Amino acid sequence: MSKVLIVSGGSQGIGYATAQRFQAEGYRIVNLSRRGIAMEGAEQICVDMQQLDWLQSCAEELTAIAENADELVLLHNAARHDGDSVANLEAEAFRQVLQINLVAPQQLNQLLIPMMKPGSAILYMGSTLSEKAVSGCASYIASKHGIIGLMRATTQDLVGKGIHSACICPGFTDTGMLRGMLGDDPAVMASITGIVSFGRLIDPAEIAATIWFCAANPVMNGSVIHANLGQIER
Ligand SMILES: NC(=O)c1ccc[n+]([C@@H]2O[C@H](COP(=O)([O-])OP(=O)(O)OC[C@H]3O[C@@H](n4cnc5c(N)ncnc54)[C@H](OP(=O)(O)O)[C@@H]3O)[C@@H](O)[C@H]2O)c1
Repeated sequence: MSKVLIVSGGSQGIGYATAQRFQAEGYRIVNLSRRGIAMEGAEQICVDMQQLDWLQSCAEELTAIAENADELVLLHNAARHDGDSVANLEAEAFRQVLQINLVAPQQLNQLLIPMMKPGSAILYMGSTLSEKAVSGCASYIASKHGIIGLMRATTQDLVGKGIHSACICPGFTDTGMLRGMLGDDPAVMASITGIVSFGRLIDPAEIAATIWFCAANPVMNGSVIHANLGQIER
């Protein structure tokens, strides 16, 4: 049986760890990102999802991959996390974040769902900020709330097709995205790990294992999974 993972943003972080996990489980790996994926045997399609027409260059290739898959897992993982606020967020910057984080996933859905067979899955990467807000990242929060909506719509619109969906919402995970936001300041790191009940960052492999569980278990259809090691609320 031909099993395929199409992942966006697998060049690093959670997407890369997930590609590793699925490859170990016998999946063919196809990654969509600007940089390549450094993983033997994985296939790379270089795209910049911020471009409105990004799908044009690879639609034919993706269609052929999906047609040949007996079981396809589509993981919407690529994202952009800007520092901004509702007081200063400009429409064009907001559109760009929504294009990568929310519109590109739907572009892939529209292309690939017609080819997806029963047993396939569409998984979305949310965040703790999918269901709550903090100050200073309005566009990201809006997009991550939206991704839960898209997952729930997926579950409702694909009734009877044997394709399940879930949204995995990580907490503070040790990736380039988080390190880029925190910088090198040990005090900032301590303040972050200080609000995690286990006192540490999540390893990307732990999120990959959660994604694997959601892919392998259709009973998760429609679920929002909070994978955050228990954030302490103050
Ligand atoms: N890390 C955390 O603490 C955390 C917490 C909650 C939720 N999440 C979510 O988990 C997912 C993965 O996050 P991460 O921490 O692994 O992020 P990351 O290390 O920054 O990786 C992001 C991935 O997205 C790709 N990407 C970004 N912009 C792109 C573009 N314009 N076109 C194509 N690909 C693009 C990047 O690839 P290229 O640069 O090669 O294009 C990269 O592979 C995201 O949806 C994020 O919101 C992460």
